[in-house]
Amino acid sequence: MNTNTYKRIVRINIRPKVVVFACNWGAFKQDDRGEIVLPRKYPGTNIIRIMCSGRLSPALILQAFELGADGVLILSCPEGECHYSFGRKVAEKNFTAANKIMRLLGYDEHRLRMEYPPKYESEKVKEIIDSFVRGLKELR
Ligand code: FES
Repeated sequence: MNTNTYKRIVRINIRPKVVVFACNWGAFKQDDRGEIVLPRKYPGTNIIRIMCSGRLSPALILQAFELGADGVLILSCPEGECHYSFGRKVAEKNFTAANKIMRLLGYDEHRLRMEYPPKYESEKVKEIIDSFVRGLKELR
């Protein structure tokens, strides 16, 4: 992930500004017809494909807030379905660490969420994103 990916966050003018990190092998997984399951067009939302949620360090998560994101949503893989087997455990550990730091810095913990949508279920992914965005609007 390069800094240009993050710079897109500050260019979004719609609030809340949301960063969605989605596992390539989970929420972002392509179906048999080669279609992207994850809906890409969410105004104010920057959807970033990652190879595994276990690659997201607390620093990367917090950097999104530093650059102006109102919320960060991590779409990890369901239990036992991480492509690399151990990634989800690492992701949970990093999520917990990022959450603790956020609270120390005075951020509302509801601005960071991790979910585990089942593969190939774009409706479920849409529901999760919608619910997260609604929650962020209520915080304002
Ligand atoms: Fe999704 Fe590892 S590939 S948690």
